[in-house]
Amino acid sequence: MGSSEVRGKFLVFEGCEGSGKSTQLRMLSEYLGKIGVNFIMTREPGGNPISEEIRKIILNGKNTAMCDECEALLYAAARIQHLKEIIEPALAAGKLVVCDRYVYSSLAYQGYARGLGDYVKEINAYALTNYPPDMTVFLDISPEDAFKRKHGADENDRMEQLGLEFHKKVYAGYKELEKEYADVRAVDCSGTKYRTAEKIRLLVDGLLGVSDGKTL
Ligand code: TYD
Repeated sequence: MGSSEVRGKFLVFEGCEGSGKSTQLRMLSEYLGKIGVNFIMTREPGGNPISEEIRKIILNGKNTAMCDECEALLYAAARIQHLKEIIEPALAAGKLVVCDRYVYSSLAYQGYARGLGDYVKEINAYALTNYPPDMTVFLDISPEDAFKRKHGADENDRMEQLGLEFHKKVYAGYKELEKEYADVRAVDCSGTKYRTAEKIRLLVDGLLGVSDGKTL
């Protein structure tokens, strides 16, 4: 990074299954394009060929023998490759990076819900120390309501097969993370997708220092 360049902002989206994350990311992408922000949108696990390969192993519904530690390490492995190959260079080039899930997913799913605790922080130390998000939008909806929206789980997806009890633990984990990490901003998404999108736009405008799509 040249000394005159400023590191771009790192914006992460988190939420339980069925929180409407994909829809909100699509709407945000349209908004950012419209106001002319230089950004990339990417996702975890994945976002580059190696991490997409790892993603297939993690989510494959046939891998029922996978132990919790292996799962946590695979997410961490996919993450660090993605960080070094995609996120670091984009931030160094001054771009806004919007990422669908990041290290708090590991803390909520593997740390809290699987019960691996601080082990997950240890194996994700590089991400937590060097690349904490500037802002994390947590789409806040109870797992019960999210399940109603989602119309059932994908039977080929190992993580989606985990039942409501597991997802209640994930949600409780996110609520703890909201207290622990100042960048986590919970957005109540029980209303319409348009209302939620409006709330997100306000937060993102604040992060970017723009008002109604114009630089302040
Ligand atoms: P995905 O299909 O991208 O789910 P979603 O649309 O809900 O984001 O699959 C990602 C799954 O992996 C999802 O169930 C959450 C889980 N996950 C973890 O358990 N730990 C992690 O660190 C990450 C990034 C995802």
